[in-house]
Amino acid sequence: MKALIPAAGLGTRFLPVTSVIPKEMLPIGSRPALELIVDEARSAGATEIVIIISEGKELIRRYFAGQDDVKFVYQHGQKGLGHAVLQASGRFGDEQLLILLGDALVTGCNASKSMAEVSAANSGCSVIGCERVPRERVSRYGIMKPSSGAEIAAGNAFALFDIVEKPPVEEAPSDLAVAGRYLLDSRIFAYLADQAAGVGGEIQLTDAMRVLAKEQGMVGREFTGTRYDMGNKFGILQAIVQVALQHPEVKDQFRDYLKQVAENL
Ligand code: G1P
Repeated sequence: MKALIPAAGLGTRFLPVTSVIPKEMLPIGSRPALELIVDEARSAGATEIVIIISEGKELIRRYFAGQDDVKFVYQHGQKGLGHAVLQASGRFGDEQLLILLGDALVTGCNASKSMAEVSAANSGCSVIGCERVPRERVSRYGIMKPSSGAEIAAGNAFALFDIVEKPPVEEAPSDLAVAGRYLLDSRIFAYLADQAAGVGGEIQLTDAMRVLAKEQGMVGREFTGTRYDMGNKFGILQAIVQVALQHPEVKDQFRDYLKQVAENL
């Protein structure tokens, strides 16, 4: 299995800091968020990690320079997640492709590893990591339509019938959102190459995944950990607190500090 991390976005929501530091390099403790994601891919078994960057984000390249299993591919122009993924197709053969979105940090479990386990137990099928989101927020995500109408217990894998990218609330087939982790058959690249622009005028990974799901079947799996959206300020602050609470050097001190802060609110 090889991994791919799209990290080419411009980070305009984080200006001014992103004029010099890519948002994926913002520190969570003493390490950039992106390195925590690279580590997740490695410990899930990825032998090579390709990071998609754009011009102006060379700091990422410099940071990982000594790590031989990390490679880089450029995306020119912001034409969507599917377009970003497609830029790396030349680096992949017929092995499984693990995609970890550079702005989704998952703590409390190795989401990629648990998806790889589900895939191995189901003849190498494609697996999409998901999380439940409040109904009013479904239009921000790819939303899954499970094959069975039955309630799905947390942590259970389920067969996927379809995925709808950013549906209006009344058309959402469930509250299970695609959450930034995908383990896909290599044929995804061929389906992506055939895609016209979809929602938002962008080449959508979701549209190619729908074809893959129809052709080969696909499985969804809810995370047991928590995903932090590094695409917004609140998400970054939450991730910093969570990582600090688990940090071997500072966790006790930090817990006491948080209690003190809470008492004075
Ligand atoms: C992307 C995907 C979407 C997914 C979301 C969160 O959307 O297209 O299916 O639910 O990431 O992982 P974006 O946040 O890039 O608009």
